[in-house]
Amino acid sequence: MDDLTSRAQQDRPAAGLAGAPPDLLGRIRAAVRRPSGTDDRLRTIVRILSEGVAKYTWTGVYLLQGDRLVLHNQVGPATPHETIPIGEGICGLAARQGKTVLVPDVGRNPSYLACSHTTRSEIVVPILKEGRVIGEIDVDSDRLDAFDDGDRRLLEETARLLSACL
Ligand code: SME
Repeated sequence: MDDLTSRAQQDRPAAGLAGAPPDLLGRIRAAVRRPSGTDDRLRTIVRILSEGVAKYTWTGVYLLQGDRLVLHNQVGPATPHETIPIGEGICGLAARQGKTVLVPDVGRNPSYLACSHTTRSEIVVPILKEGRVIGEIDVDSDRLDAFDDGDRRLLEETARLLSACL
């Protein structure tokens, strides 16, 4: 087990994931290991995250195609932003920076591209392969300031696991 995985597991209860099933990362690891196609695996992991954490009201994965992020699948309402150029919106910013972007109040962020009028906060975690962005996990919440370091660690570890099978 690497340090990040170990920390994510040890810190989970104290890191704001109360309410999430204790085996969430274990379920994600199992889904990654299970023999299945990439599309199926991506859909399964989005569903595990969405079902596992009640505050995740919109959960999706975008994959990079050329200079655009293209929505692969989501659990949540349809979005008008199925394709997002690098540098646009919160998703495009995270892709350009190659770093997690956490927006506690989307109403105060002029870059935010609205998916649903009920969304209050958002976290976008890039999926990196050999240092380059190949996709992202995007999670919205109807709660203001919904995301903390526990969510960041959970989603960054999920992105790391996904990277290995993309
Ligand atoms: N809010 C994102 C767009 C994607 S939808 O939320 C699903 C953004 O600002 O990039």
